[in-house]
Amino acid sequence: MEKWLKEILPIMTVENGCLLSKQGDVTRSFDLELPELFTLSDRDYEAFHQAWVKALKVMPRHSVFHKQDWFVNTGHQGDFGKNPGFLSRSSERHFHERPYLDHHCHVFLTKKPADRKVGSSMFSSLIRGNLIPVDVLDAVSVQEFLDSCGQFQRILEDSGFVKLKAFGDSDILSSKENAGLVEKYCSLQEHEKERFVYDISLKDTLRIGNKICRLFTLGEADELPLLCGSRIDYDRYCTDRTRFSVGFASTLGQLLPCNHIYNQYIFLDDPAQTIKKLESKRLRLQSLAAYSRENLIARDAANDFLNEAIGEQRLPVKAHFNVLTWTEEKEQLKEIKNMVSSALAQMDAVAKEETIGAPQIFWAGIPGNAADFPMNDTFDTFLEQATCFLNLETSYRSSLSPVGIRLGDRLTGRPVHVDISDEPIKRGVCTNRNKFILGPSGSGKSFFTNHMVRSYYEQGTHVVLVDVGHSYKGLCDLVGGYYFTYNEKSPIRFNPFYIGKGDNLDTEKKESIKTLLLALWKKDDETFNRSEYVALSNALQLYYEHLRKNPNIFPCFNTFYEFLRDVYVKVLESEKVKDRDFDIGNFLYVLRPYYRDGEFDYLLNATENLELLQERFIVFELDNIKDHPILFPVVTIIIMEVFINKMRKLKGIRKMILIEEAWKAIAKEGMAEYIKYLFKTVRKFFGEAIVVTQEVEDIISSPVVKQAIINNSDCKILLDQSKYQNKFDGIQELLGLTEKEKALVLSVNRANDPARKYKEVFISLGGMISKVYRTEVSLEEYLVYTTEESEKVKVSEYAERFGSIQKGIEVLASELRQAKG
Ligand SMILES: Nc1ncnc2c1ncn2[C@@H]1O[C@H](COP(=O)(O)OP(=O)(O)OP(=O)(O)O)[C@@H](O)[C@H]1O
Ligand SMILES: [Mg+2]
Repeated sequence: MEKWLKEILPIMTVENGCLLSKQGDVTRSFDLELPELFTLSDRDYEAFHQAWVKALKVMPRHSVFHKQDWFVNTGHQGDFGKNPGFLSRSSERHFHERPYLDHHCHVFLTKKPADRKVGSSMFSSLIRGNLIPVDVLDAVSVQEFLDSCGQFQRILEDSGFVKLKAFGDSDILSSKENAGLVEKYCSLQEHEKERFVYDISLKDTLRIGNKICRLFTLGEADELPLLCGSRIDYDRYCTDRTRFSVGFASTLGQLLPCNHIYNQYIFLDDPAQTIKKLESKRLRLQSLAAYSRENLIARDAANDFLNEAIGEQRLPVKAHFNVLTWTEEKEQLKEIKNMVSSALAQMDAVAKEETIGAPQIFWAGIPGNAADFPMNDTFDTFLEQATCFLNLETSYRSSLSPVGIRLGDRLTGRPVHVDISDEPIKRGVCTNRNKFILGPSGSGKSFFTNHMVRSYYEQGTHVVLVDVGHSYKGLCDLVGGYYFTYNEKSPIRFNPFYIGKGDNLDTEKKESIKTLLLALWKKDDETFNRSEYVALSNALQLYYEHLRKNPNIFPCFNTFYEFLRDVYVKVLESEKVKDRDFDIGNFLYVLRPYYRDGEFDYLLNATENLELLQERFIVFELDNIKDHPILFPVVTIIIMEVFINKMRKLKGIRKMILIEEAWKAIAKEGMAEYIKYLFKTVRKFFGEAIVVTQEVEDIISSPVVKQAIINNSDCKILLDQSKYQNKFDGIQELLGLTEKEKALVLSVNRANDPARKYKEVFISLGGMISKVYRTEVSLEEYLVYTTEESEKVKVSEYAERFGSIQKGIEVLASELRQAKG
């Protein structure tokens, strides 16, 4: 028998955001923004669960709560529209069509007329069609109901876990361009904007267009788990020492990897009536108990139920939960059934595949038609228990912020945009942008920082990197930044005397040169006196005047030295400056090695890479000089001055200094104060300081680092700590991580997808928002970031052969892909 959907559709009309059914039910509907999966603690789950209980308690009698969670297989769509750089393009390609489960959560609150016929499989409006409502809700009860809906929304939102948006008429009704809620459900429409003509077949199996549906229900007491709660262990991420929680019903939500709708119904009828009914049932069973053991059990169950209702003041409700799956391929049906069965088994429930009653149950799932649910398919329970079966989470959400990095969802790797600088400050969870990165050797610190720094660079940030492991050469070459390093053939060269574009000889510049000159002249424990300081100030002043008059003299240490030796000496003589005030002979003697033909004559006389203030990407690679008693301290001063100059002069531009293991040497060389100053001050200049380290011991042993770095880094990033599993308590205490954060950190890399190459990373923002993400990148990005010697050699080989690092990587990547087939 064929019918037109619009003739039998149980929904009569939509008014003021309410669905009105042909049976006289009024329904208000909401779109929910749930918390992200894997981010809630045990306590959060409990609190969220309680919020649901509280919110549902305000609903009036004879109302129905219907929550509908849609999970639809979707492919991530790469964005090829704009014209991004070569790496961003490769990333878009890499993630294009990456499958993930797109999730939407809707809640329908329905009020039915008091004497509405109870829904049942026999009397579904699907079968009886157009019944004219006997009793239409009067205006007062409708208003009361709407007020309750408002309260429901407020209670949930006040919990801080969820946001609700009431659907308006245009969301519910279809328009020319978009299908409304009702149409979407009736056609199991997977994606926005997709419109097609379809048939619904309810004969034998449920079919909608080409989609073959299967319905699995939890509608009978004996299918239910013995115990339920707000959370459940997620074994894949648990360790010997930590329990990892997910919501009790998550296995039927985000963790069930097929197209499905998880329908959750709670029927709030008259509790007094329910108890009365059960009471009489109990008496009946009591009298029959002698004849059958089953009756005895049923009587005990009814007894327990009544005791709990009365003793613990629980609200008796009826409930039903079902999973509706669909696929267009018949062969998949078996696999889907297995998936659902194992999902239910994880919560200790049994899957029942519904066949005969499926059409009515499907029909009741139509938005606004929950009151038509066949009550013979529900079971008696209490509100507390029923709400345990609600799906509480969704997948990771992308930030809309213009800054940030591309990381991945833990389950699928779907790219998400994450802002770990500005947004946390705006949201009040962080007060600075500094970051502290910890992970043992090989855990992926440099790989992650390469990825982060590249994103920031592409978004306009000035980046200064201090490294001791050549981890940023590839990226630096690619973006054409400055790379300062030392080797015998080409030693490290700077020129602090050069005044670049946008810079000028102001007090700060002079101070910075003076600091350097004094450091070159005096040892750490030697002091300088006032007259020496004044003399150097004057010397600099006159030197720059001298340069102005002689434009052919190039500013550098050599010409400064010559100016002192040939010109300034005479000035001092004419002013009768005594040696004890400023011993220029001693000064020239001590600084002689930095002058022409001296041992370090290269250091301060650079003629290229001079525009440090304007250059947006600068790497200082200090591996070869980190133990050098002369070069290292001078170079650190220069680096710090470069960054501080950027801090002061580049107004409104983001800047970042990232110091890899070098901080250890820097702190040792009496430069600890610089680091302290940096971490405390950089915040005020739209900047961020980042320290990367391997060993916890290093942090603990240095009080400066502990105080200045850890306390002033609101963002803590940890890589795989499984090596330190047994002594993690120390790290936890040092970084002030919560138990939940500990469980998160120790879950890193525990259950990675073996088919993909990536690592996970834990990020805590002010201890308030903590998540684990994938750091998954395209092959091209990988080749830029890798620190494996053999891969790096190959990349430079190809770069040389094909003329540029980009070209080289493009060729290498395509060869590698071909080799893989
Ligand atoms: N997210 C990732 N995806 C794929 N490969 C990765 C990832 N992270 C790291 N690797 C691989 O692991 C190697 C080591 O990573 P990385 O150099 O970042 O370690 P590290 O923590 O900086 O070690 P060290 O402290 O010794 O410098 C990389 O060269 C790369 O091959
Ligand atoms: Mg490294």
